[in-house]
Amino acid sequence: MTAMQALKDLSAQTDKTQHSEYPETTVDRLSISVIGLGYVGVVTLGCLANLGFRMHGADVIEKKSNAVNAGRSTIDEEGLGDLLRDSVARGLVQASTDVKAAIRATDMTFLCVGTPESEDGGDNFDTIRDAARAVGEVLAEKDGYHVVVVRSSAPPGTTMNVVVPVLEEASGKSLNTGFGVCFNPQFFREGVAVADFYAPSKTVIGASDHRAAAMLASVYRLVDDRILMCNITAAEMVKYIDNVWHATKVTFSNEVGRLCKAVEIDSHEVMNIFVQDQKLNLSPYYLKPGFAFGGSCLPQEVRAIEDLAKNFQIQTPLFQSILKSNAMQIEEGLRMIRKFPGKRIGFLGVAFKCDSDDLRDSPALELMAALLN
Ligand SMILES: NC(=O)c1ccc[n+]([C@@H]2O[C@H](COP(=O)([O-])OP(=O)(O)OC[C@H]3O[C@@H](n4cnc5c(N)ncnc54)[C@H](O)[C@@H]3O)[C@@H](O)[C@H]2O)c1
Repeated sequence: MTAMQALKDLSAQTDKTQHSEYPETTVDRLSISVIGLGYVGVVTLGCLANLGFRMHGADVIEKKSNAVNAGRSTIDEEGLGDLLRDSVARGLVQASTDVKAAIRATDMTFLCVGTPESEDGGDNFDTIRDAARAVGEVLAEKDGYHVVVVRSSAPPGTTMNVVVPVLEEASGKSLNTGFGVCFNPQFFREGVAVADFYAPSKTVIGASDHRAAAMLASVYRLVDDRILMCNITAAEMVKYIDNVWHATKVTFSNEVGRLCKAVEIDSHEVMNIFVQDQKLNLSPYYLKPGFAFGGSCLPQEVRAIEDLAKNFQIQTPLFQSILKSNAMQIEEGLRMIRKFPGKRIGFLGVAFKCDSDDLRDSPALELMAALLN
């Protein structure tokens, strides 16, 4: 079956997704290679095989490819061993150390190699470059369109500035003619990765062109009918920002915990009430980048919490940085306006937020005062 026939077949079935059980199909589908059989790679391989895709895995470590071929997981993850065993028995999985053979046999390649930190704390792209070169060298001899899906986490710009140039150079083909590229961050949590794969928190595809996006979306529509499409760099950023947000939540809660402990309040009781508020606390509200906050409550109460921490000699660096960061946002507004010297400037609304006439602690007034100085 050709890739396009397989795609049509997939599209016809996208509304049959079941999240309650691990879905299983026997339909002949796209062939997909997974390069790197570590955490991300082996979960991706096992779960896609169980959906009926023909999977070819490859890893430079022979022990890992041997394990997958034998229907065993390379990691300890609930349910994954069973999926691999069944998929190997159904003839849907093959693995080896021959990276190029895996790519050659397939229509789509997931790059799941590591992006380790370099000694200076930055990212080391050698591994992803090596894997991309192997893909490019196969594409040089392969007819037809191939989709390369980057799943490794990498700073914004890596796919377009590191992976694509290597693919183009090694293949002699141009992006979006011989091949398409997607960045597809993965959000499954270790420990419940299989369950998360089949009921994802979200599915994000950053794509170089419509064809690549459509092919990858056809795969994921089997587990998610709401696919979020964007450009590749935005998708890379989403992955980082998600994790910074999760880390911020943990740090925020721990600072609440330290403060509550000092003043002898039950922090779990406080946070249990906090999370009940899904209108303002756990919601999109306040999460749109824009101008600084102000008004009669937020600045004053953040200052009060800063003082409380100081009085009890509790370290709360996250809380202590909030007003500093807010002041920087006003400075940023000032810097943007000063790019246009000699202009007359009008302000449409000077209250601390729209639909309010409250001028107390309004950042717009601060900005005006700074401009007058
Ligand atoms: N582990 C997670 O939960 C998680 C979550 C989100 C994103 N990520 C990202 O996904 C990427 C992979 O993470 P991981 O935890 O699976 O890493 P891992 O180290 O467990 O697995 C990477 C695998 O790639 C193999 N490999 C390296 N170079 C290769 C090559 N040239 N050809 C074939 N195989 C090669 C390695 O032998 C290893 O088995 C990383 O960029 C990571 O930041 C991981």
